[in-house]
Amino acid sequence: MSKRPVTKKPDPETTGHNWDGIEEFNNPLPRWWLWTFYATIIWGIAYTIAYPAWPLITGATPGVLASSTRADVAAEIKRYEDANAPIEAKLAAADLTAIASDPELANYTANAGGAVFRTWCAQCHGSGAAGAKGYPNLLDNDWLWGGTIEEIHTTVAHGIRNTTDADARYSEMPKFGADELLEKEQIDEVVQYVLQISGQDHDAALAEAGATVFADNCAACHAEDGTGDRAQGAPNLTDAIWLYGGDQVALTDTVTNARFGVMPSWQGRLSEADIRAVAAWVHSRGGGE
Ligand code: HEC
Ligand code: HEC
Repeated sequence: MSKRPVTKKPDPETTGHNWDGIEEFNNPLPRWWLWTFYATIIWGIAYTIAYPAWPLITGATPGVLASSTRADVAAEIKRYEDANAPIEAKLAAADLTAIASDPELANYTANAGGAVFRTWCAQCHGSGAAGAKGYPNLLDNDWLWGGTIEEIHTTVAHGIRNTTDADARYSEMPKFGADELLEKEQIDEVVQYVLQISGQDHDAALAEAGATVFADNCAACHAEDGTGDRAQGAPNLTDAIWLYGGDQVALTDTVTNARFGVMPSWQGRLSEADIRAVAAWVHSRGGGE
């Protein structure tokens, strides 16, 4: 780099900065830009005076307009709660069996119950309550624990096989294979028998032997004819509705390792009115008995 002497005198229109002969002009900012800039500063200051802005040790300056979206939401929620309080009190006090025939309660539970379901139950039972593997369909007329409004209410209030509610519904199918209660051959036989009573293709000879295994080991819970026992939440094995699958592989797995479906307790987490609303909603949908 050759050093060249600066021959030009500083131009008054430049900032006086000079790098290797390159000078910077001192052009003023456009008026409109400058005024917009000042306006935003004024707006900024006014905003921090009007609205919550400056952080303090706890909270922030409230602002002279005392506006709070959080308080707005709380007020809105309170307004709806106040509006619903009378009908919720009526629902909580009503006879469970009278809900469906009272137009006001039936209408309320149809809406509020659906909302509760979508918020708290849909994760497991599906948004339309049609269930999934391990999570029963609540729309059909096939009930593990019972489909009357009282039974549904009990199921929802206390849950199933959870450890948090002393009144939870409880039963436990033995692990016939894992705990070596039955031989491998006996499991194959009883599986063929279950295939038979549920109207599926089966090996007749194995199924015949399986009938004895069933009578000795399964009938106490699933009933002599395999139609189940709601007092123990033991499913009906003669219909085509399966919680865990009805083919040979799934049945062998169930008999070998058993299943242990858990549903949470809702008492204490949902209000009595909400539990009743969702129980009535399920009852009205699920071919309620
Ligand atoms: C964490 C998953 C989960 C959630 C959330 C859940 N459930 Fe369940 N529910 C289950 C399982 C699993 C079973 C079946 C348990 C069994 O095998 O006996 C069940 C069973 C039921 C039954 C018994 C069905 C029958 O055939 O007797 C009803 C009724 C029910 N649930 C309603 C609800 C309602 C209403 C809610 C929301 C307030 C809800 N469940 C939330 C997992 C869940
Ligand atoms: C102590 C009671 C009990 C005994 C004995 C018992 N079960 Fe079960 N069984 C249950 C319960 C309860 C369930 C539901 C488990 C769940 O939902 O998590 C069940 C579920 C099943 C299922 C799943 C049904 C479905 O819809 O997916 C099959 C199949 C089954 N049992 C077959 C048998 C066979 C075969 C035997 C005899 C070898 C037997 N059970 C013995 C209580 C019992």
